[in-house]
Amino acid sequence: MKKRKVLITGASKGLGLAIANKLAPIYDLILHATNEGSFSSKIPDSNFLYADFSDQSQLEAFCKKLKKDHGDSLYGVINNAGITFDKPINYQPEIEIDTMLNVNLRAPIFICKTAMKIFQQNKTGVIINISSISGDGGNAFQSVYAATKAGLVALSKSLAQEAAALYDLHNIRVLSISPGFIESDMTGSLSQEVRDKYLSAIPSKRFGKPDDVANLVEFLLSENASYINGTNIQINGGLK
Ligand SMILES: NC(=O)c1ccc[n+]([C@@H]2O[C@H](COP(=O)([O-])OP(=O)(O)OC[C@H]3O[C@@H](n4cnc5c(N)ncnc54)[C@H](OP(=O)(O)O)[C@@H]3O)[C@@H](O)[C@H]2O)c1
Repeated sequence: MKKRKVLITGASKGLGLAIANKLAPIYDLILHATNEGSFSSKIPDSNFLYADFSDQSQLEAFCKKLKKDHGDSLYGVINNAGITFDKPINYQPEIEIDTMLNVNLRAPIFICKTAMKIFQQNKTGVIINISSISGDGGNAFQSVYAATKAGLVALSKSLAQEAAALYDLHNIRVLSISPGFIESDMTGSLSQEVRDKYLSAIPSKRFGKPDDVANLVEFLLSENASYINGTNIQINGGLK
């Protein structure tokens, strides 16, 4: 039987790669990164799409290709690609602000728009937008990043309602996940002082692993999660 397809953006490393490895036995994967060289190894039998989401024309071509090549059997979309430039907003160059807005929020909006059209035809589908604890509670030196991540939560809740209201489709679910501090390249550059500060504030007394998030994504895509919709799920070891 033909397997259902799941798109994972930012699948070259970190959370995206862990999600890809977790889902590979179950779904036919469409893996995205900025370019082919980003993947150090390739999960066999996967499909690959490349695009730098800070470039509007690349995003447009990506969405067109997603619909044309994979629209008939697309079941899941994991909007995971993201970027941060941590600094006080007074010192944040416009290019960094634009890049975070484009990669973290504009791209997921257009990918959701493409997916909703496809799901409307297929009458089923699940979107999971990877937000952040910074989007839930804010975080100093991450104001723009946090704003993009809060936007993903609102986008997800709104689309879940829209699917039912506009199309009367009840098999389309839209969710977001807010990870706390997860070990990856994104957090790897933080100073020991900052890491120690976070660790002391995490009740579970460890940083998260990409697999922790991958396990949650696998569950949320499954039929066992069919009544979880239009909400944001925090996975942070109790960090507030
Ligand atoms: N790590 C954490 O503690 C944490 C916490 C909360 C939320 N998150 C969120 O989880 C997601 C994954 O984070 P991570 O820690 O796994 O990050 P990561 O290791 O830095 O990986 C980022 C991924 O995003 C892709 N990406 C970066 N810039 C891009 C661009 N301009 N266009 C398209 N794709 C781009 C990268 O592709 P290339 O390899 O091609 O550059 C890579 O696949 C992000 O949305 C992040 O905000 C992470």
